[in-house]
Amino acid sequence: MPITFNENQMSFKLAANNSCYMMKVAPGGYLAHVYFGKNVPDDDLTYLLRLDENPFTPEVNNRDLACYMDTLPFEYPCFGLGDYREHAFSIMDKNGASTCDLRYTSHRIYDGKPKLEGLPATFANSDSEAQTVEILMTDKPANLEVTLIYTAFADLDVITRSVTVKNIGSDKVYLTRVYSACVELDSEKYDMITLNGSWARERAPERCRLHHGKQLIDSMRGESSHQNNPFTAICANNADEDSGEVYGFNFVYSGNFVSEAEVTQHKKTRYLMGINSCDFKWLLEPNEVFTAPEVVMVYSDSGLGKMSRTFHDLYRNNLIRGEYKDKRRPILINNWEATYFNFTDEKLLQIAQEASKLGIEMLVMDDGWFGHRDSDNSSLGDWFVYEKKIAGGLKALVDKVNSLGMKFGIWFEPEMISPDSELYKQHPDWAIQVKGRDLTLCREQYVLDFSRKDLRDHIYAKMRAILDSANIEYIKWDMNRQLTEVASNALPVERQRELWHRYVLGVYDLMERLTTDYPHILLENCSGGGARFDPGMLYYSPQIWCSDDTDAIERLKIQYGTSMCYPCSAMGAHVSDCPNHTVGRSTPFTTRGHVAMVGTFGYELDVTKISQQDRDAIPAQIAEFNKYNALVRTGDHYRIGNIFEDNLWDAWMFVSKDKSEALFEFVQVLCRPNERSRRIKLKGLDPDAYYYEEQTPDVTLSGQALMQCGVNIGGLWGDHQSKILHFIKAEN
Ligand code: GLA
Repeated sequence: MPITFNENQMSFKLAANNSCYMMKVAPGGYLAHVYFGKNVPDDDLTYLLRLDENPFTPEVNNRDLACYMDTLPFEYPCFGLGDYREHAFSIMDKNGASTCDLRYTSHRIYDGKPKLEGLPATFANSDSEAQTVEILMTDKPANLEVTLIYTAFADLDVITRSVTVKNIGSDKVYLTRVYSACVELDSEKYDMITLNGSWARERAPERCRLHHGKQLIDSMRGESSHQNNPFTAICANNADEDSGEVYGFNFVYSGNFVSEAEVTQHKKTRYLMGINSCDFKWLLEPNEVFTAPEVVMVYSDSGLGKMSRTFHDLYRNNLIRGEYKDKRRPILINNWEATYFNFTDEKLLQIAQEASKLGIEMLVMDDGWFGHRDSDNSSLGDWFVYEKKIAGGLKALVDKVNSLGMKFGIWFEPEMISPDSELYKQHPDWAIQVKGRDLTLCREQYVLDFSRKDLRDHIYAKMRAILDSANIEYIKWDMNRQLTEVASNALPVERQRELWHRYVLGVYDLMERLTTDYPHILLENCSGGGARFDPGMLYYSPQIWCSDDTDAIERLKIQYGTSMCYPCSAMGAHVSDCPNHTVGRSTPFTTRGHVAMVGTFGYELDVTKISQQDRDAIPAQIAEFNKYNALVRTGDHYRIGNIFEDNLWDAWMFVSKDKSEALFEFVQVLCRPNERSRRIKLKGLDPDAYYYEEQTPDVTLSGQALMQCGVNIGGLWGDHQSKILHFIKAEN
């Protein structure tokens, strides 16, 4: 049983594969955190709470309760009772007070994992895959019931958490902070790893030593953001890629968040994650329930690599849904970098004709096909075909593309409205805005108030009209700006501060409707590149456009960082033209293919204009992608190089689950004169098995030797060159 309750000690143990998480109902009814780490045989470790230590001993010496409150490792700390560390929960009650006090009331353990109302979340494929405990905490004076929901996965070192809050009284209560998780670690000797960046350089890992006080990353942009991803690893100071303790946290949410660590007076670490409480105030009427999104917690006793592989397995099997969950994705060609806004149906057909001959399977028509959109300054919201560009109509274009044996995909940006649009003329009040203030433009557009169902219905009806008019098999859902002047014309004054969250719920609602009504359509999320690469989005779309930077060398960094918690099968990655449009760099066509092959793979170039040599290389490149895609999608990913530490080279591997084959990829970023070959130790192989490289079937080496001694990688001349090796287990 993954979850047990020791009645004598009033303590919980959640065993998740080789890890466990322990809690106890401490004196006073407070829920305390006892232990999170490698599994131990014991079901109770109450002594870890130090309840017998001065200056306060519950039930013996009651003269300083505040001291108890400020030292007890709380499972879900509240504001106002003397715990001066960062809190997870606060309210404003009918008297305007912010103090709250949650005490254990009851609990319920059951098989499986519940859904979260209106929110994305990981799921169990069967009841035996996971077990859940719901712990009911009550604040009697405030008439609030807070349920802490924990699920332990049986075969993965994963525990998920979320929280619901119910008003069981007859007065209104405002929730001013409802974080989803708090974890107390009994040391300050940790590093915090976060994924940070900007447009075109998303998710670069940054590692900092924890120190006294609070350290955090967050988003207040209305999206999970380019700048900080809702992921954090708290790891032992000496942890590295392959060894040491790591705690990974990832928020299954696509809006404002906070991820915070605090080192406190007794050199302990409290870590918290949840919806950002800045500008958050949620009115809870009697009987209403608020649900906080899920936090995924992964434990690894063997470094960052193992943590990542656990996240990858969880997300591939227990988060991503739909027909494409376990399928190779169609090889697409997207016209964005090929034409930008300057295209017609004829131009698209030329691209499709050439692409189909080379083995490309789908044409994606990007931004610019609707309203009267010739640049980014108009027409968002006008989801009808721009006849000047698509003169023969959408159906005729799609039919012609289909007749070439190719699928057809289309771009939408449903959450946006251009000031120059029919929609804005009809509904200027639909843009998110503060009455009496000017609206701030960003990429020449405003954001629609997606908290409004009438608005969502309208947008969806327009999208449906397009989707039903032709055989569309793929959607790229984009989101190209952040939120400003956040207020709604549809919400009452006392609910205005709910808009940030209601906006995200509205986006989820529309994505759920879309994916339910069109199960055959492959949805790819995007947000100015990778500003919404988060697990919330993965619940609706099995792949997300990683970044607008398609340069193969920059992608090494972006894909390295993204792989910290997101599976490669979800990374939208394309071969684009050179010099690269973002950085002006030229890289070999082969290297671009090898790097894009890590992700979903496709092309983002005008195939009618590239050199004959590159065009000729496409069929073989596609064959190579096809050969390895199952391994890449389903295998274990091992990072070998770290381009942030050594920018001369990078390498990584994919090893099949049964360890019968492995793909090794190497990129020589810069060539150096007079160097010997580089010795690289492989990872993830079966040490007792023997392997040969496909090109040299007569030479076998043990997995042990390949991992312990390594292979020599050399013979590459020039910058940005790449090489792949395919290791196959030899028959005994
Ligand atoms: C965003 C996307 C790009 C492209 C453009 C279109 O920047 O990330 O891939 O779709 O929008 O405007």
